[in-house]
Amino acid sequence: MPLPKAELHLHIEGTLEPELAFALAARNGVQLPYADTEELRKAYLFDDLQSFLDLYYGLMAVLRTEADFEELAEAYLTRAAAQGVRHAEIFFDPQAHAARGVEMGTVVTGLTRALARSEERHGISTRLIMCFLRDQSAASAMETLEAARPYLDHITGVGLDSAEVGNPASKFTEVYAAAAELGLRKVAHAGEEGDPSYVWEALDLLGVERIDHGLRSLEDPELVRRLVADRVPLTLCPLSNVRLRAIDVLEEHPLPRMMDAGLLCTVNSDDPAYFGGYVDDTFHAVHEALGLGQERLRELARNSFLASFLDGSAAEEELRARYLAEVEAYSFD
Ligand code: ADE
Ligand code: ZN
Repeated sequence: MPLPKAELHLHIEGTLEPELAFALAARNGVQLPYADTEELRKAYLFDDLQSFLDLYYGLMAVLRTEADFEELAEAYLTRAAAQGVRHAEIFFDPQAHAARGVEMGTVVTGLTRALARSEERHGISTRLIMCFLRDQSAASAMETLEAARPYLDHITGVGLDSAEVGNPASKFTEVYAAAAELGLRKVAHAGEEGDPSYVWEALDLLGVERIDHGLRSLEDPELVRRLVADRVPLTLCPLSNVRLRAIDVLEEHPLPRMMDAGLLCTVNSDDPAYFGGYVDDTFHAVHEALGLGQERLRELARNSFLASFLDGSAAEEELRARYLAEVEAYSFD
Protein backbone atom coordinates (compact mmCIF):
# COMPACT_ATOMS: atom_id res chain seq x y z
CA MET A 1 0.00 0.00 0.00
CA PRO A 2 1.49 3.39 -0.95
CA LEU A 3 1.97 6.26 1.49
CA PRO A 4 -1.27 8.35 1.68
CA LYS A 5 -0.76 11.78 0.16
CA ALA A 6 -2.35 14.82 -1.45
CA GLU A 7 -1.42 15.87 -4.96
CA LEU A 8 -1.37 19.66 -5.29
CA HIS A 9 0.39 20.25 -8.60
CA LEU A 10 -1.19 18.24 -11.37
CA HIS A 11 -2.30 19.47 -14.78
CA ILE A 12 -5.19 17.29 -15.89
CA GLU A 13 -4.14 17.79 -19.52
CA GLY A 14 -0.73 16.45 -18.49
CA THR A 15 -2.30 13.11 -17.60
CA LEU A 16 -3.33 12.46 -21.22
CA GLU A 17 -1.63 9.13 -21.91
CA PRO A 18 -0.80 8.28 -25.54
CA GLU A 19 -3.33 5.41 -25.64
CA LEU A 20 -6.19 7.70 -24.58
CA ALA A 21 -4.98 10.42 -26.94
CA PHE A 22 -5.22 8.04 -29.91
CA ALA A 23 -8.60 6.67 -28.77
CA LEU A 24 -10.01 10.21 -28.51
CA ALA A 25 -8.43 11.20 -31.83
CA ALA A 26 -10.23 8.29 -33.53
CA ARG A 27 -13.52 9.11 -31.80
CA ASN A 28 -13.34 12.79 -32.71
CA GLY A 29 -11.88 12.44 -36.20
CA VAL A 30 -8.69 14.29 -35.28
CA GLN A 31 -5.57 13.50 -37.30
CA LEU A 32 -2.47 13.39 -35.08
CA PRO A 33 0.99 14.02 -36.55
CA TYR A 34 2.27 10.71 -35.09
CA ALA A 35 1.80 7.24 -36.60
CA ASP A 36 1.09 5.52 -33.28
CA THR A 37 1.61 5.66 -29.51
CA GLU A 38 5.18 4.46 -29.85
CA GLU A 39 6.10 7.28 -32.21
CA LEU A 40 4.35 9.77 -29.92
CA ARG A 41 6.27 8.54 -26.87
CA LYS A 42 9.52 8.88 -28.80
CA ALA A 43 8.76 12.60 -29.16
CA TYR A 44 8.84 13.02 -25.36
CA LEU A 45 12.42 14.25 -25.32
CA PHE A 46 12.31 17.86 -24.19
CA ASP A 47 15.00 20.55 -24.16
CA ASP A 48 13.15 22.95 -21.89
CA LEU A 49 9.67 24.03 -20.77
CA GLN A 50 8.73 25.55 -24.16
CA SER A 51 9.57 22.42 -26.16
CA PHE A 52 7.27 20.47 -23.84
CA LEU A 53 4.49 23.06 -24.01
CA ASP A 54 4.50 22.95 -27.83
CA LEU A 55 3.78 19.22 -27.84
CA TYR A 56 1.42 19.38 -24.84
CA TYR A 57 -0.84 22.06 -26.37
CA GLY A 58 -0.75 20.25 -29.72
CA LEU A 59 -1.94 16.94 -28.28
CA MET A 60 -4.86 18.65 -26.56
CA ALA A 61 -6.48 18.81 -30.03
CA VAL A 62 -8.07 15.43 -29.24
CA LEU A 63 -10.06 16.83 -26.26
CA ARG A 64 -13.40 18.05 -27.60
CA THR A 65 -16.44 16.96 -25.61
CA GLU A 66 -17.62 16.77 -22.02
CA ALA A 67 -17.22 13.00 -22.26
CA ASP A 68 -13.56 13.43 -23.28
CA PHE A 69 -12.81 15.56 -20.21
CA GLU A 70 -14.73 13.17 -17.98
CA GLU A 71 -12.77 10.21 -19.32
CA LEU A 72 -9.47 12.06 -18.90
CA ALA A 73 -10.22 12.87 -15.25
CA GLU A 74 -11.55 9.38 -14.55
CA ALA A 75 -8.35 7.83 -15.93
CA TYR A 76 -6.24 10.12 -13.73
CA LEU A 77 -8.25 9.40 -10.58
CA THR A 78 -7.98 5.64 -11.17
CA ARG A 79 -4.19 5.91 -11.43
CA ALA A 80 -3.97 8.36 -8.54
CA ALA A 81 -5.87 6.03 -6.21
CA ALA A 82 -3.35 3.28 -6.96
CA GLN A 83 -0.58 5.77 -6.07
CA GLY A 84 -1.98 6.50 -2.60
CA VAL A 85 -3.54 9.86 -3.49
CA ARG A 86 -6.31 10.72 -1.02
CA HIS A 87 -6.87 14.33 -2.06
CA ALA A 88 -6.16 15.99 -5.43
CA GLU A 89 -6.15 19.67 -6.37
CA ILE A 90 -6.30 19.58 -10.13
CA PHE A 91 -5.23 22.30 -12.59
CA PHE A 92 -6.91 22.86 -15.91
CA ASP A 93 -6.06 25.28 -18.75
CA PRO A 94 -9.32 26.69 -20.19
CA GLN A 95 -7.57 29.08 -22.61
CA ALA A 96 -5.78 26.19 -24.28
CA HIS A 97 -9.21 24.66 -25.04
CA ALA A 98 -10.94 27.92 -25.95
CA ALA A 99 -8.31 28.29 -28.68
CA ARG A 100 -9.98 25.28 -30.42
CA GLY A 101 -13.50 26.53 -29.72
CA VAL A 102 -14.02 24.26 -26.70
CA GLU A 103 -15.95 26.27 -24.15
CA MET A 104 -15.43 26.63 -20.42
CA GLY A 105 -18.69 24.80 -19.71
CA THR A 106 -17.62 21.75 -21.70
CA VAL A 107 -14.34 21.50 -19.79
CA VAL A 108 -15.67 22.16 -16.29
CA THR A 109 -18.82 20.05 -16.68
CA GLY A 110 -16.87 17.10 -18.06
CA LEU A 111 -14.17 17.22 -15.38
CA THR A 112 -16.73 17.76 -12.62
CA ARG A 113 -18.66 14.63 -13.62
CA ALA A 114 -15.65 12.49 -12.79
CA LEU A 115 -14.68 14.53 -9.73
CA ALA A 116 -18.18 14.41 -8.23
CA ARG A 117 -18.05 10.62 -7.82
CA SER A 118 -14.35 10.49 -6.91
CA GLU A 119 -14.73 10.22 -3.13
CA GLU A 120 -17.14 7.34 -3.47
CA ARG A 121 -15.40 5.52 -6.31
CA HIS A 122 -11.73 6.24 -5.59
CA GLY A 123 -11.59 7.53 -2.01
CA ILE A 124 -10.11 10.80 -3.31
CA SER A 125 -11.46 14.23 -2.37
CA THR A 126 -10.87 16.78 -5.11
CA ARG A 127 -10.64 20.46 -5.96
CA LEU A 128 -10.33 22.25 -9.31
CA ILE A 129 -7.88 25.10 -9.90
CA MET A 130 -8.28 27.13 -13.09
CA CYS A 131 -4.95 28.27 -14.56
CA PHE A 132 -4.34 31.33 -16.71
CA LEU A 133 -1.77 31.00 -19.48
CA ARG A 134 0.87 33.60 -18.62
CA ASP A 135 2.09 33.89 -22.22
CA GLN A 136 -1.35 35.21 -23.16
CA SER A 137 -2.56 38.71 -22.32
CA ALA A 138 -3.97 39.91 -19.02
CA ALA A 139 -7.15 40.82 -20.94
CA SER A 140 -7.52 37.22 -22.07
CA ALA A 141 -7.05 36.03 -18.47
CA MET A 142 -9.74 38.46 -17.33
CA GLU A 143 -12.13 37.16 -20.04
CA THR A 144 -11.40 33.65 -18.84
CA LEU A 145 -12.26 34.60 -15.27
CA GLU A 146 -15.54 36.09 -16.56
CA ALA A 147 -16.30 32.93 -18.53
CA ALA A 148 -15.81 30.91 -15.34
CA ARG A 149 -18.40 32.87 -13.35
CA PRO A 150 -21.28 30.42 -13.92
CA TYR A 151 -19.05 27.54 -12.75
CA LEU A 152 -17.46 29.03 -9.65
CA ASP A 153 -19.19 26.50 -7.40
CA HIS A 154 -16.86 23.93 -8.94
CA ILE A 155 -13.66 25.99 -8.89
CA THR A 156 -11.62 26.51 -5.72
CA GLY A 157 -8.84 28.70 -6.99
CA VAL A 158 -6.79 30.21 -9.77
CA GLY A 159 -3.26 29.45 -10.91
CA LEU A 160 -0.77 30.73 -13.48
CA ASP A 161 1.13 28.43 -15.83
CA SER A 162 2.75 28.12 -19.28
CA ALA A 163 5.94 29.91 -20.42
CA GLU A 164 7.42 31.68 -17.40
CA VAL A 165 10.47 33.66 -18.45
CA GLY A 166 9.42 37.03 -19.88
CA ASN A 167 5.89 36.68 -18.47
CA PRO A 168 6.19 37.84 -14.86
CA ALA A 169 3.37 37.74 -12.34
CA SER A 170 3.08 41.55 -12.46
CA LYS A 171 1.11 41.15 -15.72
CA PHE A 172 -1.72 39.53 -13.77
CA THR A 173 -2.06 41.69 -10.66
CA GLU A 174 -5.56 42.92 -11.57
CA VAL A 175 -6.81 39.50 -12.59
CA TYR A 176 -5.70 38.00 -9.29
CA ALA A 177 -7.31 40.83 -7.35
CA ALA A 178 -10.57 40.15 -9.23
CA ALA A 179 -10.27 36.42 -8.51
CA ALA A 180 -9.76 37.12 -4.81
CA GLU A 181 -12.89 39.31 -4.85
CA LEU A 182 -14.78 36.27 -6.11
CA GLY A 183 -13.52 34.24 -3.16
CA LEU A 184 -11.04 32.16 -5.14
CA ARG A 185 -7.81 30.82 -3.61
CA LYS A 186 -4.56 31.81 -5.33
CA VAL A 187 -1.49 29.89 -6.47
CA ALA A 188 1.02 30.51 -9.28
CA HIS A 189 3.87 28.73 -11.01
CA ALA A 190 7.02 30.66 -10.16
CA GLY A 191 10.73 29.95 -10.06
CA GLU A 192 10.52 26.95 -12.39
CA GLU A 193 12.82 28.37 -15.07
CA GLY A 194 12.56 31.94 -13.81
CA ASP A 195 14.83 33.42 -11.16
CA PRO A 196 13.70 34.23 -7.59
CA SER A 197 12.24 37.58 -8.69
CA TYR A 198 9.35 35.61 -10.21
CA VAL A 199 8.60 34.10 -6.80
CA TRP A 200 8.79 37.49 -5.08
CA GLU A 201 6.28 38.92 -7.57
CA ALA A 202 3.89 36.01 -7.12
CA LEU A 203 3.99 36.55 -3.35
CA ASP A 204 3.94 40.35 -3.23
CA LEU A 205 1.87 41.29 -6.28
CA LEU A 206 -0.52 38.36 -6.61
CA GLY A 207 -0.74 37.39 -2.94
CA VAL A 208 -0.50 33.68 -3.69
CA GLU A 209 -0.89 31.14 -0.90
CA ARG A 210 1.35 28.50 -2.48
CA ILE A 211 4.17 28.59 -5.00
CA ASP A 212 4.08 25.99 -7.76
CA HIS A 213 7.68 24.81 -8.20
CA GLY A 214 9.83 27.49 -6.52
CA LEU A 215 12.75 25.34 -7.60
CA ARG A 216 15.24 28.19 -7.70
CA SER A 217 14.27 29.67 -4.32
CA LEU A 218 17.51 28.68 -2.59
CA GLU A 219 19.38 31.15 -4.81
CA ASP A 220 17.96 33.97 -2.67
CA PRO A 221 18.43 33.64 1.11
CA GLU A 222 16.07 36.55 1.76
CA LEU A 223 13.36 34.75 -0.21
CA VAL A 224 13.97 31.57 1.78
CA ARG A 225 13.55 33.54 5.02
CA ARG A 226 10.25 34.93 3.75
CA LEU A 227 8.91 31.55 2.58
CA VAL A 228 9.88 29.91 5.86
CA ALA A 229 8.52 32.72 8.04
CA ASP A 230 5.16 32.74 6.24
CA ARG A 231 5.08 28.95 5.84
CA VAL A 232 4.37 29.28 2.14
CA PRO A 233 4.14 25.78 0.66
CA LEU A 234 6.13 24.87 -2.45
CA THR A 235 4.67 22.27 -4.81
CA LEU A 236 7.84 20.76 -6.22
CA CYS A 237 7.85 18.38 -9.19
CA PRO A 238 11.24 16.65 -9.30
CA LEU A 239 10.63 14.36 -12.31
CA SER A 240 9.34 17.33 -14.30
CA ASN A 241 12.46 19.35 -13.45
CA VAL A 242 14.68 16.61 -14.88
CA ARG A 243 12.59 16.04 -18.03
CA LEU A 244 12.40 19.79 -18.76
CA ARG A 245 16.11 20.14 -18.07
CA ALA A 246 15.78 22.63 -15.21
CA ILE A 247 18.27 20.29 -13.51
CA ASP A 248 20.57 17.75 -15.13
CA VAL A 249 19.88 14.69 -13.01
CA LEU A 250 17.55 13.89 -10.12
CA GLU A 251 20.54 13.37 -7.82
CA GLU A 252 21.13 17.14 -8.05
CA HIS A 253 17.60 18.16 -7.08
CA PRO A 254 17.64 20.71 -4.22
CA LEU A 255 14.69 19.06 -2.39
CA PRO A 256 16.74 17.75 0.59
CA ARG A 257 18.46 21.12 0.99
CA MET A 258 15.13 22.89 0.75
CA MET A 259 13.66 20.68 3.47
CA ASP A 260 16.74 21.24 5.63
CA ALA A 261 16.27 25.01 5.16
CA GLY A 262 12.82 24.70 6.75
CA LEU A 263 10.78 25.19 3.58
CA LEU A 264 7.35 23.58 3.51
CA CYS A 265 7.97 21.27 0.56
CA THR A 266 5.56 18.96 -1.21
CA VAL A 267 6.28 16.52 -4.04
CA ASN A 268 3.97 16.27 -7.04
CA SER A 269 3.81 14.91 -10.57
CA ASP A 270 3.02 18.00 -12.74
CA ASP A 271 2.35 16.26 -16.10
CA PRO A 272 2.83 12.58 -15.30
CA ALA A 273 1.91 11.18 -18.73
CA TYR A 274 4.91 13.06 -20.12
CA PHE A 275 7.50 12.95 -17.33
CA GLY A 276 7.87 9.27 -16.56
CA GLY A 277 5.86 8.81 -13.39
CA TYR A 278 2.87 9.54 -11.22
CA VAL A 279 3.17 10.89 -7.69
CA ASP A 280 4.07 7.73 -5.78
CA ASP A 281 6.62 6.93 -8.49
CA THR A 282 8.04 10.39 -7.71
CA PHE A 283 8.21 9.58 -3.98
CA HIS A 284 10.11 6.38 -4.82
CA ALA A 285 12.42 8.25 -7.19
CA VAL A 286 13.39 10.89 -4.62
CA HIS A 287 13.93 8.16 -2.03
CA GLU A 288 16.31 6.35 -4.38
CA ALA A 289 18.10 9.32 -5.95
CA LEU A 290 18.26 11.71 -3.00
CA GLY A 291 18.40 9.28 -0.10
CA LEU A 292 15.33 10.75 1.58
CA GLY A 293 14.48 8.33 4.38
CA GLN A 294 11.10 7.18 5.62
CA GLU A 295 10.59 10.07 8.02
CA ARG A 296 11.41 12.60 5.30
CA LEU A 297 8.88 10.92 3.01
CA ARG A 298 6.32 10.98 5.81
CA GLU A 299 7.05 14.70 6.27
CA LEU A 300 6.39 15.30 2.56
CA ALA A 301 3.08 13.45 2.79
CA ARG A 302 2.11 15.35 5.95
CA ASN A 303 3.01 18.64 4.26
CA SER A 304 0.81 17.80 1.29
CA PHE A 305 -2.29 17.71 3.48
CA LEU A 306 -1.20 20.75 5.51
CA ALA A 307 -0.69 22.73 2.29
CA SER A 308 -4.00 21.65 0.74
CA PHE A 309 -6.99 23.93 0.41
CA LEU A 310 -8.98 21.58 2.63
CA ASP A 311 -9.89 24.01 5.35
CA GLY A 312 -12.58 26.24 6.62
CA SER A 313 -15.54 24.08 7.48
CA ALA A 314 -15.53 21.64 10.38
CA ALA A 315 -16.17 18.78 7.95
CA GLU A 316 -13.09 19.64 5.89
CA GLU A 317 -10.88 20.02 8.95
CA GLU A 318 -12.09 16.62 10.09
CA LEU A 319 -11.19 15.15 6.71
CA ARG A 320 -7.72 16.70 6.86
CA ALA A 321 -7.23 15.36 10.39
CA ARG A 322 -8.23 11.89 9.18
CA TYR A 323 -5.74 12.03 6.31
CA LEU A 324 -2.97 13.27 8.63
CA ALA A 325 -3.71 10.42 11.04
CA GLU A 326 -3.37 7.98 8.11
CA VAL A 327 0.06 9.45 7.33
CA GLU A 328 1.23 9.08 10.94
CA ALA A 329 -0.09 5.51 11.15
CA TYR A 330 1.48 4.45 7.86
CA SER A 331 3.98 1.62 8.05
CA PHE A 332 6.64 1.48 5.32
CA ASP A 333 7.22 -2.27 5.81
N1 ADE B 1 1.71 23.63 -17.96
C1 ADE B 1 1.76 22.29 -17.80
N2 ADE B 1 2.89 21.96 -17.17
C2 ADE B 1 3.57 23.10 -16.90
C3 ADE B 1 4.78 23.41 -16.27
N3 ADE B 1 5.58 22.47 -15.75
N4 ADE B 1 5.15 24.70 -16.21
C4 ADE B 1 4.39 25.65 -16.72
N5 ADE B 1 3.24 25.43 -17.33
C5 ADE B 1 2.82 24.15 -17.42
ZN1 ZN C 1 2.96 22.73 -13.46
